[in-house]
Amino acid sequence: MSDSGIEGPDAMDDEFDTMPRWTVEAIESLGASHAIPAACRGSGNPAALTWLADMMNLGETTELVDVGAGMGGAAEYAALTRGTSVLLVEPMLGACRAATQLFGRATVAASGTDLPLADGGVDAVWSLGVLCSSADQLRMLEEMRRVTRPGGAVGLLVYIKTVADLPEQPDGNEFPTRGELIDLVRRAGLHVGEIADLPDFDGPPQVWQQQAQAVDDLVAREHRDDRRWQVADTQQSTMGHLIGDGLVLGMLLSLTP
Ligand SMILES: C[S@@+](CC[C@H](N)C(=O)[O-])C[C@H]1O[C@@H](n2cnc3c(N)ncnc32)[C@H](O)[C@@H]1O
Repeated sequence: MSDSGIEGPDAMDDEFDTMPRWTVEAIESLGASHAIPAACRGSGNPAALTWLADMMNLGETTELVDVGAGMGGAAEYAALTRGTSVLLVEPMLGACRAATQLFGRATVAASGTDLPLADGGVDAVWSLGVLCSSADQLRMLEEMRRVTRPGGAVGLLVYIKTVADLPEQPDGNEFPTRGELIDLVRRAGLHVGEIADLPDFDGPPQVWQQQAQAVDDLVAREHRDDRRWQVADTQQSTMGHLIGDGLVLGMLLSLTP
């Protein structure tokens, strides 16, 4: 159990708690236009987010809960492009504070395995790049189903492994195979609608990539001598290698309860 209170190694604190604090400082220095690109971690592809939002019918009258919202970039993208009301749920206090400072949306500090929400009370729930870092993946999916109203929508971006054994993986992560994920989703009582793979979508526009990179570069310049930056960087590099080698890929699913 790490300092954040969720199960997981300290490396996850460095990546998901400390880095968001430094990221906000960098965004404040570079300008607010950098906020959404730099605050999308794991979900940083507008084309894929748009596809998922379409599949989930997100609109002005929808209330969306973002489970494991991180710094809130993806939720903000939905709010700005769809007029959707958003509630962010995120266990790491550093990320919660970062999201509040950047976007000022409603944010709750909680784990996706124990959502502080009533049964069947929300229109739509999504969770992007989170499931692989949850200590209890089935429980998180069951919680997402529990809080979604009948007729509502559930969306996932899950990083899956394409081979049985990975040569390395970031601390605290456990990637299901495609088959294991579909099985988990069904066991959680969710019905599979549309599926897409992240590599099928165009990558982020150049300006988006440049803004995210500028923030990362500034954080690195300020903090690369700090052990916590080095640990977080190793986590992110490991993930980058796995994705680059095609051993891990992002899978998008639109589901119904
Ligand atoms: C790769 S980041 C993705 C953040 C955000 N969804 C995005 O796409 O930018 C993974 C996030 O999952 C969060 N997380 C880890 N375990 C969690 C849990 N049990 N419940 C909810 N969120 C969790 C981490 O704190 C981190 O913010």
